[in-house]
Amino acid sequence: MTDRTSPPKISFRDVGCRFPVRGGHFTAVDRVSLDVGEREFVTVVGPSGCGKSTLLNMAAGLVTPTSGEVVVDGRRVTGPGPDRGVIFQQYALFPWLTVRRNVEFGLRVAGVGAAERRRRADEAIALVGLGDFADALPKTLSGGMKQRCAIARAYAVDPDVLLMDEPFGALDSLTRVQLQEQLLDTWSRQTRTVVFVTHDVEEAVYLAGRVVVMAARPGRVHRIVDVPLPYPRTEETRLSPEFAALRNEVWSAVHHQAPVEAPAR
Ligand SMILES: Nc1ncnc2c1ncn2[C@@H]1O[C@H](COP(=O)(O)OP(=O)(O)OP(=O)(O)O)[C@@H](O)[C@H]1O
Ligand SMILES: [Mg+2]
Repeated sequence: MTDRTSPPKISFRDVGCRFPVRGGHFTAVDRVSLDVGEREFVTVVGPSGCGKSTLLNMAAGLVTPTSGEVVVDGRRVTGPGPDRGVIFQQYALFPWLTVRRNVEFGLRVAGVGAAERRRRADEAIALVGLGDFADALPKTLSGGMKQRCAIARAYAVDPDVLLMDEPFGALDSLTRVQLQEQLLDTWSRQTRTVVFVTHDVEEAVYLAGRVVVMAARPGRVHRIVDVPLPYPRTEETRLSPEFAALRNEVWSAVHHQAPVEAPAR
């Protein structure tokens, strides 16, 4: 599904991020270089604290690199933009707004008119299966439903790039699988590039065309594992020996990390 011969959609160019801490600096991300192709689905795994969120936040324009740059569509990222939708692990909904108003919020910020806003919000809400809850307040929803709402908000804006930080991390495995299927389904129908951070090795392999395994201290790209399993992926995919082999490979790369001297790519 990915054309890696055309210019990359997202380019991390020797990106680093150091945070000031008492008595010096802490290097959260160290010299990461990575190209993500147009329509590519890349997942990022690695031990806690290895800089996954920091990397994603630099692409989102929420954290400024202290060295190198992130380039999207040939332009250096200097802040957030409607071309990049971000979905966080925490639902980040406005509790006083209904599902529909929460979903419309991003469209309002993007300057979309009322009628079009309503249409696109309702479409996104239906897509994530929340049609019957458009007028509900977040406090009346389950965790999975809140996360669907956050996802609908990102989908409604129809960004070129989806940046997802452990979006299904807090959900039960059944809901998680449902949302994975839905995400792959939308991704295959619309032209989006996805960077998806997860702790879950199985999820990383199931979704991705490529899995980026990061190493900690400092946060670097440790290995990149290609996932040459055809889409659409199904239950059969999950149960196949090829899938098991890839999952084991990524698992080992995450859990047996020898210190690396230089970035893998
Ligand atoms: N604003 C900040 N100031 C200082 N240190 C920070 C800041 N943000 C992150 N860090 C540190 O940078 C490192 C990477 O953090 P980051 O949140 O990117 O890791 P992560 O891989 O997403 O971890 P997790 O899997 O637990 O979410 C951590 O050691 C963290 O303590
Ligand atoms: Mg994180």
